[in-house]
Amino acid sequence: MSFEFDDSVRAVDRRAFIDSGVLDIELDRVFRPSWQLLGFADEVREPGDYVVRTLGRDEVVVVRAEDGEVHALHNSCTHRGTRLCSASLGNAAHLRCSYHGWTFANDGRLVGVPALRSAYPPDFDRSGHDLPTARVVCRRGFLFATWDTQAPELEDYLGGIAWYLDALLDCGGGQWEVCGPPQRVRAKGNWKIPTDNFAGDGYHMRTTHQIALDQGIYGDTLANGTRGRAGTDLVAVNIATPDGHSLRAGYVVESGSSLEERDLTAPQFPGYPPERWAELASAQTPEQVRFTSHCEVAHGVVFPNTVFLSVAHDRAVGEDTDPLTRYLVVRTHVPVSARETECLYWTLVPTAMDREWRRRSYRFQARTQSAGGILFEMDDFENFARIDAALARSAPGRGGAVDLTLGTGRGTPARDFPGPAQAEAATLSEHNQRAFYRRWAELVGEL
Ligand code: FES
Ligand SMILES: [Fe+2]
Repeated sequence: MSFEFDDSVRAVDRRAFIDSGVLDIELDRVFRPSWQLLGFADEVREPGDYVVRTLGRDEVVVVRAEDGEVHALHNSCTHRGTRLCSASLGNAAHLRCSYHGWTFANDGRLVGVPALRSAYPPDFDRSGHDLPTARVVCRRGFLFATWDTQAPELEDYLGGIAWYLDALLDCGGGQWEVCGPPQRVRAKGNWKIPTDNFAGDGYHMRTTHQIALDQGIYGDTLANGTRGRAGTDLVAVNIATPDGHSLRAGYVVESGSSLEERDLTAPQFPGYPPERWAELASAQTPEQVRFTSHCEVAHGVVFPNTVFLSVAHDRAVGEDTDPLTRYLVVRTHVPVSARETECLYWTLVPTAMDREWRRRSYRFQARTQSAGGILFEMDDFENFARIDAALARSAPGRGGAVDLTLGTGRGTPARDFPGPAQAEAATLSEHNQRAFYRRWAELVGEL
């Protein structure tokens, strides 16, 4: 099997979504050389605080050591291999193995071996049995890690996408905090299915989420593409980098007008309190404001499996009087098997907003786009499960390949759009998904 994806092949073989051999290759060629999000510094504030997460094939204990550094330690004793930590979070001065009692410090050093002097050979190499540790970088509170000692520095790995992520964070005032531990969902379907959805799928809103839209759960915002405040349109811009990272941003503009015609002398940040807009604008560079002003929804992928969504809602279920409020959710899509994915959801709120606003933001996220989210997640996960079931029971080659041609030749370059990456203006396009699969195919190569 070989996977190619270029301008002549805008499709992906269906086996890529169900075959455990493909996942095995992906773990080596896509996940191992990449930086993946493990969580947030807020989750491990104090020395000894830890959370257990997955990095590629391995489980890791993400722990803050006494010197304040965060480490990602392989969660497996170097004696017989016992899983060291079976809680998902907690605080511990050290990790002690439940089998023979080897004890590891929070930086991975083997510090305790029962009967070391009396029963081990005099030349026993204790430091040769330290826990393997991954490279960890804390960037604006986001904890990224990789096992690959040859991987580029995180900043180089993120490339152009970092500029847009920074702008979204700076738009909220710059400082963010994470609400509680992440929510977790085990979803049927390959990890790439929800990930390509986040890369840029505006196309499914009108069908998958039709009931939610008709019920007004998205209110009169335009992110849905079918309703909206009178006299306004939503125009979208797609941005993808050669590394497979992507972002799709939707803007509220006056009906019939273009993105370039936004009034940037009076920037608007939908979902943030209007009385704070001038202050929020002054905390950003003019370039950032050209990206964030009038932006109602932004979602995308940090390749391979970290996704984000920043969106303004004007009501949650049963709370029709709540003002337009924005939320930011960051997720990882961790493969459990070729056909099952664990999704972790973190909600982030800007510390510049008052307590009531932050609570509302978290509530809107929890009620719409979360483990228990009403409609949005149920709608999406139902489709992902249907994809999985149908692909898994089809004969190889039946039904051709997964099609990714939407918007080809239809978009136009978004002129004067700020930021380092080329942007394409097109409300309905698989431009970003193509970038994701192009990078994925490059890395997977021949099987
Ligand atoms: S397996 Fe961990 S101490 Fe023996
Ligand atoms: Fe959706």
